[in-house]
Amino acid sequence: MRKPLIAANWKMYKIPAEATAFIGAFLPLVASQEKTEIVLCPSMTSLAVSLEATKGTQVHIGAQTMDWHDNGAFTGETSPVMLNAIDVTHVLIGHSERRQYFNETDETVNHKLKAALAHKLVPIVCVGEHKADRESGRTNDVLKKQLTVGLQGIDPAAAAPLVIAYEPVWAIGTGLTATPQIAEDAHKFIRAQIAEILSPAIAASTRILYGGSVKPDNAASLCCLENIDGALVGGASLDPTSFAQLIANSSI
Ligand code: PGA
Repeated sequence: MRKPLIAANWKMYKIPAEATAFIGAFLPLVASQEKTEIVLCPSMTSLAVSLEATKGTQVHIGAQTMDWHDNGAFTGETSPVMLNAIDVTHVLIGHSERRQYFNETDETVNHKLKAALAHKLVPIVCVGEHKADRESGRTNDVLKKQLTVGLQGIDPAAAAPLVIAYEPVWAIGTGLTATPQIAEDAHKFIRAQIAEILSPAIAASTRILYGGSVKPDNAASLCCLENIDGALVGGASLDPTSFAQLIANSSI
């Protein structure tokens, strides 16, 4: 009932010509992939060419962040209205690098989530604990706070598009992947929190992605567990062959 979703987070890589070349090589490799929703999240300057190159295909384009206002004097920001206007369909919210380097908080995540839902963008809300949280047994406390504040005031009737990405910070870009058991336990806990904060029905239908050093080799063991509905992929999404292989392996 939950369609698997695999999203590429290209971070601050790929100028428009590189994005176009990636998509040209990638599309034939995933042409028969209908079981999985595929999303590419390029940088802002590569959104337009990526939309053009994927037009009429099953590959969606998402933004890596956005502001929550419709418009205004917010130098450097991009609004949900602007993303809508160019047909972007998904948006990452509260990635740990945004939290670490750009002062994003659970409160700003909450504002952005409300704006994304109001503008019919599919929000991919990122949560996850630091190494020290895990080592001191605080993982569930951290996840609970991120979700309680992040999802505060969301109308369950409008929450159907919500996607959560569980990305333990210690696993991002480090080559350290959570074991399938660690990931499954965290996902199960997140689903139970969504049931409490929103509703059991929304919890049952919300897709929860795993992120953090997902590679073609470990995708199968992570993506096929009961509460894991796909992946958010950084490093391994930059090469079209590797990313297509990761998608193929995850849908076995
Ligand atoms: P990684 O990044 O796959 O390179 O660990 C994941 C992410 O930051 O979303």
